[in-house]
Amino acid sequence: MRTPVSRVRFYILCTLMSPVILVGYLVWVGKLFAAGRSGVSATAQGPLSARFSEHNFGTRQDEAADRLMRALPGVPRLGLRLTTGPVLLAHRVTGYVPRAFRYPFEGDVAPQYEASARIGFFDAAVDRYLPDVAQFVILGAGFDTRAYRLPSDTRVRVFEVDSPQTQMVKRETLQKVGIDSSAVTFVAADFEQDDWLACLSAAGFAPDERTLFLWEGVTMYLNREAVEDSLRKIASTAQGSVVAFDYFTTEALESRALYWRYGRAATKSTGEKLKFGVDSTPPSRERLAELLRSCGLSLADQRTLGDDTPTRRAWGGFATATAEKSSADL
Ligand SMILES: C[S@@+](CC[C@H](N)C(=O)[O-])C[C@H]1O[C@@H](n2cnc3c(N)ncnc32)[C@H](O)[C@@H]1O
Repeated sequence: MRTPVSRVRFYILCTLMSPVILVGYLVWVGKLFAAGRSGVSATAQGPLSARFSEHNFGTRQDEAADRLMRALPGVPRLGLRLTTGPVLLAHRVTGYVPRAFRYPFEGDVAPQYEASARIGFFDAAVDRYLPDVAQFVILGAGFDTRAYRLPSDTRVRVFEVDSPQTQMVKRETLQKVGIDSSAVTFVAADFEQDDWLACLSAAGFAPDERTLFLWEGVTMYLNREAVEDSLRKIASTAQGSVVAFDYFTTEALESRALYWRYGRAATKSTGEKLKFGVDSTPPSRERLAELLRSCGLSLADQRTLGDDTPTRRAWGGFATATAEKSSADL
């Protein structure tokens, strides 16, 4: 239900319960900072939380996200209950679903809704490319649940790459909640320190077979060298391989706006500093295409986020790019 009346009733109920939501938020944030110090990604809770919300609003089924969220050691049960309980109650009473959680995301994307919006872009990329590839590699997988939503008879080999601590917590929690991850090959690697492609190959990845790489919510946390090196590694795999990723521009790293100052400080305090941005000089799509070309990839689909003018720069985007080897490389 999306009538103006249900919307007003929904927000009145949320406002009345806002003190409870605020307490839950503070409990959660306190635990997030502790998670950052443990080496387990705190930012990985953001996209999981978006998938959890969509599942609970009934707009995108993701049973695995629901179970992970309720069991991860870094998510305080009390904080989860106090923040999501009142909002879901208001939803049940009014039938209203906030725009951020209507899947696929509609209209302009505000920075705070990037994680919700990109789920639709990446689900579409997975639907489009998975039938034509032999391997699916989720880079910086965090608490992504796409590997556990594939049909049980899929012939695609699935790999998840992430830093050792985050991956270990995910594997333990998957086991705890009874999600079968036996079809997934887990590869622990640090994009800034390790040769992740060599680690992947040692675990059974075949570089000469066409692959879909999903790199969701990761590039902004890496230094430029690691981003470019990773793009080159992807370009070195089989012709026709695809990478789907999102990115920030330098605007997100430099803007004096309160939202971005808070965002940079918050991620830094959890140990996941924002480091990489594509040049925001308009048109930023062209700057992205240049970067990809210099790493051996061709831009396919792309969506710019924010305005893209000399005075109001774009702050990010979603993209897919393909490995198109020149005849000299073959
Ligand atoms: C915002 S989370 C996104 C997680 C996941 N892709 C998703 O959409 O749910 C960022 C992920 O990148 C991983 N990451 C960040 N820097 C990394 C690095 N240097 N090496 C390996 N993984 C890294 C984090 O561990 C975390 O899982």
